[in-house]
Amino acid sequence: MINYQPFIDELGQTALSHWQAPLKAQLEQLFADLNDGNLPRFLDQLRLLPDIPGSQFDAESVQLSHSEPLTAQQSEQLEAALKGLIPWRKGPFKFFDINVDAEWRCDQKWARIAPHLADLKHRCVLDVGSGNGYYGWRMKAAGARLVAGIDPSWLSVVQHLAVNHYAQDPSHVVLPLTLEAMVPDLSAFDTVFSMGVLYHRRSPLDHLAELRGALRPGGELVLETLVIEGNEREALVPPGRYARMNNVWFLPSPQALALWLEKSGFEAVRIVDLCQTTTYEQRTTAWKPGQSLADYLSPDNPSLTVEGLPAPKRATLIAQRPTKKQRLRRYQLE
Ligand SMILES: C[S@@+](CC[C@H](N)C(=O)[O-])C[C@H]1O[C@@H](n2cnc3c(N)ncnc32)[C@H](O)[C@@H]1O
Repeated sequence: MINYQPFIDELGQTALSHWQAPLKAQLEQLFADLNDGNLPRFLDQLRLLPDIPGSQFDAESVQLSHSEPLTAQQSEQLEAALKGLIPWRKGPFKFFDINVDAEWRCDQKWARIAPHLADLKHRCVLDVGSGNGYYGWRMKAAGARLVAGIDPSWLSVVQHLAVNHYAQDPSHVVLPLTLEAMVPDLSAFDTVFSMGVLYHRRSPLDHLAELRGALRPGGELVLETLVIEGNEREALVPPGRYARMNNVWFLPSPQALALWLEKSGFEAVRIVDLCQTTTYEQRTTAWKPGQSLADYLSPDNPSLTVEGLPAPKRATLIAQRPTKKQRLRRYQLE
């Protein structure tokens, strides 16, 4: 249904060649068993994208361009197809003369995180919960050899295909997989990102173990998640919804998260960023109509959510998978 073979071929030239056969088999099985009513509708939009030969793509600004302006017909066709893929949660993207102003200004998060990363040049990267692959393009622009985004949302997968329809980069994909469904312990990615995923996991320590297993020894984890203020023993489990989301489980303090990482066998753990999410970064737009952060905060006190819990604050931590096994043996992790 979706041709991932060019990406699987790319894996053969990297330290991930042992992933080729199991990934191919897994995707074949997934498509054979597929019973998702939305995917055909999304793929129909993809088929409506106009051909624009000679288009250029700048991964740093995440913009497609052409030396000539699009014809009115191309422009209309493109806008209709992209609007058929609403809501665009992650962005911004520019498709020629069309600005896809997504709900999230992901460039803001990237600007906070990028200065702290080990050089991405030539690295093979796994981006867990990649959404439509916005960050993957920024990683490619920073020199990554290959970026495997994984995300169970078909809309995200197809939005990525819409960008790559023009960008034509076989070394960057969004695979329709969760981390739990991936081949475990690939031990091969140089950098693994997990941004905005941990709080959706009922078992956050298992998530950290799975992230560690994907990394090569010495590889770098970049972990970004919702946090609360508190000491290393504190984490919030929202009794019901959190900021109207019904799938939020654990919000640790940054210090507690650092401890979880240590105990999960990571080393060189650093808290590199802490920030309150603002309505400048997350807001309703024409490309993501409906509610957004402003509607999830208490109208009387924007430092609280509508449920009366601390308003969204995020931390980014960076850590390494150890090259020596002592740390893992200490907690019987290996
Ligand atoms: C809050 S968004 C974060 C997107 C992006 N990483 C960012 O930081 O802006 C969480 C994403 O993780 C995906 N997701 C949820 N559970 C996941 C899992 N178990 N494995 C991989 N992705 C998951 C969701 O579909 C969603 O696109």
